[in-house]
Amino acid sequence: MSTSESKPHAADAVGVNIHTRDGFSGDMCSTLRPNSVHEFARVVGPHAPHRFGLCSMPLRDRADASELPIKLLGGRAGLSVSASGLAAPAPYAWRNVECDEVHFVQEGVLDIVTSFGTLRAEPGDFVYIGRAVGYRLEPVDSPTTRLIIEVPERVRIATSLPFGVLDPGQKVVRPDAAKTSARSGPGELWLRSFDGITKYSTPGDPLALTQILGGEPPVWKVNLTSIAQQTTSIRMSPPAQFAGTASRNALFFNLSARANDRPPHHVNADYDELIFYFRGPTAYGAIDAPGTLTWCPKGTVHWGAEEDVAGEYFAWLLECNDTLRLSPEGKDVASLMETGLFGLHPTSAT
Ligand SMILES: [Fe+2]
Repeated sequence: MSTSESKPHAADAVGVNIHTRDGFSGDMCSTLRPNSVHEFARVVGPHAPHRFGLCSMPLRDRADASELPIKLLGGRAGLSVSASGLAAPAPYAWRNVECDEVHFVQEGVLDIVTSFGTLRAEPGDFVYIGRAVGYRLEPVDSPTTRLIIEVPERVRIATSLPFGVLDPGQKVVRPDAAKTSARSGPGELWLRSFDGITKYSTPGDPLALTQILGGEPPVWKVNLTSIAQQTTSIRMSPPAQFAGTASRNALFFNLSARANDRPPHHVNADYDELIFYFRGPTAYGAIDAPGTLTWCPKGTVHWGAEEDVAGEYFAWLLECNDTLRLSPEGKDVASLMETGLFGLHPTSAT
């Protein structure tokens, strides 16, 4: 048997399986197995792949703007994932005192009024709000649907290539400091910490701003469709990273359609994988509903869908070192998932 025959390519051998360290950047061992190893007949316990339909789940803050987003997943090191459907201006200003926040806008348009000016957020936008930045949300075109990632470390624009994936000068937008909050009278400021919410009543607007005297506002946005994809001449390449923490505990990638072979069966030793399907028109594997979130916990074998499709789709990936768990509310809206094409598992009730 020749060398090439003894090492089938991932695209034509379902038994090819890779074990990786440090996500896409560490040691890797590739194996060939006699059978597909990502499937499971049943599972009992908390470390199991699930998916969520963001646009079909009940969101409390859609009917009552004073309600909080619902938490879907939480990690033991502090990373969390929540969903919001705000339809009217929130009556309070918010300040997360322990986490940076990354909001992904699925539906609707919002003005994110911050203590450094205002950003208008539209579908496909990632909005970064640094730790201890005060802000208030004012829907412009509702209903809105957002996914909120809280990261207990600083998140920065950090691309996997020095040039080409993202043009920060053109595509990363900072808030308009000339467009500031103008609420008169007493205000309300809710501080978010690990143990809940602390509510301050303030004599004036806590977000009021005259001007920025220097420095860079710790708030920005970038649209998923502005981030380029990457591949290689052998069609096996990691997706394009565009943001992350210096520790590499949380990394964001563009996972939209591209010229690349289907990935092999994969054991990701160090990261839980969250994939979010923004929109088509083409499906990503078994996912064709915009706003679908998948969660594959670290160490569970998964395959994944074909990325080189006719047409296009837009999706992104978050790798997080934190080990996530479904929250009590997340259990109510999550469905068990198979990890070949990320469809519902045959034993899933919904
Ligand atoms: Fe993977």
